[in-house]
Amino acid sequence: MASLHRLRRIAACDFFRGVIALAPMAMGGNLPYRRLCKEFGADLTCSEMILAHKLVKGSRRELPLLRKHSTETPFGIQIAGSKPPIMAEAARQAVENGADYVDLNFGCPIDVMVRKGIGAAALKRPGRLVAMIEAVREAVDVPLLVKIRTGWSEDKINAVDIAVKAAAAGADALSVHGRTREQRYRRDADWVVIDEVARSVDIPVLGNGDILTVWDHQKRRAETAVAGVVAARGALIKPWIFRELKDGEPWHPTVAERWGVLRRWFELATEHFGDDEQGLERVERFFLWHQGFWHRYRPHTHQDWLAAQPGSLIQHRDDGPGDDPEERLLAGADEADHRLIWARLLDRDHPGV
Ligand SMILES: Cc1cc2nc3c(=O)[nH]c(=O)nc-3n(C[C@H](O)[C@H](O)[C@H](O)COP(=O)(O)O)c2cc1C
Repeated sequence: MASLHRLRRIAACDFFRGVIALAPMAMGGNLPYRRLCKEFGADLTCSEMILAHKLVKGSRRELPLLRKHSTETPFGIQIAGSKPPIMAEAARQAVENGADYVDLNFGCPIDVMVRKGIGAAALKRPGRLVAMIEAVREAVDVPLLVKIRTGWSEDKINAVDIAVKAAAAGADALSVHGRTREQRYRRDADWVVIDEVARSVDIPVLGNGDILTVWDHQKRRAETAVAGVVAARGALIKPWIFRELKDGEPWHPTVAERWGVLRRWFELATEHFGDDEQGLERVERFFLWHQGFWHRYRPHTHQDWLAAQPGSLIQHRDDGPGDDPEERLLAGADEADHRLIWARLLDRDHPGV
């Protein structure tokens, strides 16, 4: 029995080694976008955050979030909550609904959530966090990923302590976002703490924070003990980041190639949401949201990256694109630009460039 348990643990830990994962993201991790990232090579995809108590109550809002596409293997379902038995039941339902792994969210910084003890609030109550992990571990057999931050605030950095406790409680891997709850996105991610965590536990640790270029990835893999990385905003700005990280070289798509990516996204989104009037309204809403990230894409060179060191490029807005009007359109920050691109996407005959 004990050796079976050990074998399961080894296999579950191996599941997370060496991965380049798409982060769990509310709104951003919608099914069509996950498919696009998968096509570009994401190893793991994950649902948006699902509230355990709502799922267990049968709330209709959470149900669509459980859906995965057949190409999403392996697919994780992320749950967040504050009560061990409810988390356990939600995890059971997640697995019943096809989760290949379960991700526990102890990183969500949103006020209304942490006030209820959900998300990053657990970093302040390690006993409660351990009880939630143990309950979920008892309830499901699939690999268990625990997502944490470096701590609650800069004077309360406790990721190493939390990680050691999480591993003992049954986590198969950790994903560490290198910021505190109070920092939100104000600071560059702290990879020193991520590395300390990775060296303190014998389960794989995935590093998360500010991965935008191949050079970020190479540096973090070379200089820290992480077993893999998780990309969030980098994947929202350029879904092809997975191809770059896999190939180990930058891909600077031409304007025509970027239109190709946009069209592929449009196909996937209309397939999912529908291309009737109602479906297109939803696709438009998602398009405008995504364009808020896509327009930030720049073909950064190694020189740009070196010049930003030790800061990270993702944290800084630059001077903007070159003179090419098509590039300027794709990089436009105004809603008027975004609506022009949308109109072109709707006009399927438009050459784009
Ligand atoms: C739009 C958006 C939604 C997010 N939603 C979630 C979420 O539902 N669950 C979660 O654990 N993290 C969520 N995050 C945090 C990311 O998973 C990630 O930890 C964070 O953005 C740092 O990674 P990055 O520097 O690569 O962006 C979200 C981030 C963004 C940008």
